[in-house]
Amino acid sequence: MAAHEKFNFKTLDDVRAKLKELDVRMDLREDLSPLAEPVRVGNKTAPNAFAVLPMEGCDSNTDGSPSELVKRRYLRLARGGYGLIWWEANAVVPEGRANFRQMMLTACNRSQFGELIRQANAEAADRNGSGHRPLHILQLTHSGRYSRPEGHTGRPIIPQHDPILDPRSNVTEDTPLVTDSYLDALTERYVQSALLAQAVARQSGLVWTETLRRVRDVQSALLAQEIGFDGVDVKACHRYLVSELLASHTREGKYGGSFENRSRFLRQTVQAIRSAVGPDFIVACRFNVFDAHPYPYGFGEDKDDFWKFDPTEPMELVRMLCREGVDLLSNSAGNPYYIYPQVTRPFDTSSMGIPTPDEHPLESMVRLFDLTRQIQEAAGDVPVVGNGYSWLRQFLPYAGAANLAAGKCRFVGLGRSSFAYPDAPYDVLNKGAMDPAKCCIACSKCTQIMRDHGQTGCVIRDSRIYAQMYREAREDASHREHSFQ
Ligand SMILES: Cc1cc2nc3c(=O)[nH]c(=O)nc-3n(C[C@H](O)[C@H](O)[C@H](O)COP(=O)(O)O)c2cc1C
Ligand code: SF4
Repeated sequence: MAAHEKFNFKTLDDVRAKLKELDVRMDLREDLSPLAEPVRVGNKTAPNAFAVLPMEGCDSNTDGSPSELVKRRYLRLARGGYGLIWWEANAVVPEGRANFRQMMLTACNRSQFGELIRQANAEAADRNGSGHRPLHILQLTHSGRYSRPEGHTGRPIIPQHDPILDPRSNVTEDTPLVTDSYLDALTERYVQSALLAQAVARQSGLVWTETLRRVRDVQSALLAQEIGFDGVDVKACHRYLVSELLASHTREGKYGGSFENRSRFLRQTVQAIRSAVGPDFIVACRFNVFDAHPYPYGFGEDKDDFWKFDPTEPMELVRMLCREGVDLLSNSAGNPYYIYPQVTRPFDTSSMGIPTPDEHPLESMVRLFDLTRQIQEAAGDVPVVGNGYSWLRQFLPYAGAANLAAGKCRFVGLGRSSFAYPDAPYDVLNKGAMDPAKCCIACSKCTQIMRDHGQTGCVIRDSRIYAQMYREAREDASHREHSFQ
């Protein structure tokens, strides 16, 4: 591993020289045409290969519906010309919300989502041409260990104890494990809900029953279909409930221990959603390929060296998801709440309390690209959305085009860059380049707001709104830190 450095490149040749110096392989392609190619996803088509990665703003209304900030974010992304808009984490049950402003689609607020999607599609077509209709995927989540449905105190729901993470997530020795029956009930109700919901659709006029209300994931999936989402994602990354289940080696019973048991919940949920929504609705999965967290608490790594990727189980998971009819995958890695966030998102400056890694950001990027490549190879025709590009700023399209051309992914996913520079696809596709003055500078301030329990966005490039929010969230957090002492 090379020493960490901040971004300091003026030209593409500077990037090439650094890659050579580091002896790191990253292809860069000056012909950007692969980014403009439509991409087939299930029975639908995205108009180009740019994808927004899910980016939580922690800024929905308290009932989970889109606030003015949420509307602004998605309208800007739609105008920006993305082919695929992977909506942020949307809680499936209130107790699994990561914060009291987390997005949550319900029977009561679905028309507000519908209106936003209609508006987004109209603006996308207005700016990018009448044929431009982005695909909308909604990320379904249960925050598990990181649930904080109200106030500032976490209410963790954990599938296993973890001596490293427990002290950092308000988990004590007495915190009970989530029961099999909680997970069972969720899964069984998915199936029941799917069948009930099909009956609801046929016999219009029936209202949502109490049973349906409790079957949140399928309910969300069906609502999503009705109002114009093109699909849903069963989120299994970043140490939230389903991600931690994949790593629950120490859990006993049917959801822990063996790979079959640890992947059971994800498998059941995907199966249930697929059978409820039918073949034309996209079922996606964003999952952690590599946790970079010591055994027996991590997934996808060597038991003796948690920095070493072991593809055995991740590849088995991909094959399993493809067998179950998943149409779209996105890989992520690491735990953004722990001390190695560079595994998830390479950065220049870390958020507070996080050490600077002993690794060059280009090395962190290449690890993510390589994980995506392996997943895409295993997934065959099922498209995979790549990630980890934002750090490369205006040079990211060259890496993205190279990865697409080589078949190492089907979409180039942008996370922080979508906050900072929502117009990036429009500029690349119409002007041939990104403007360096608009790029994300990987400063981690949007993450810091999140950690401070504020509403987040780009503090640097969208400072009119978020600079003040950053200051307020910092100040509030420092009061809490003092009052805890
Ligand atoms: C503020 C913030 C919010 C995020 N929210 C989500 C989320 O809701 N769901 C998710 O899967 N990943 C989320 N991520 C991770 C990103 O989707 C992405 O994987 C990561 O930032 C790396 O991509 P990038 O280098 O383009 O930023 C979030 C990241 C940040 C910084
Ligand atoms: S605050 Fe803006 S510039 Fe900084 S990491 Fe977030 S998106 Fe990038």
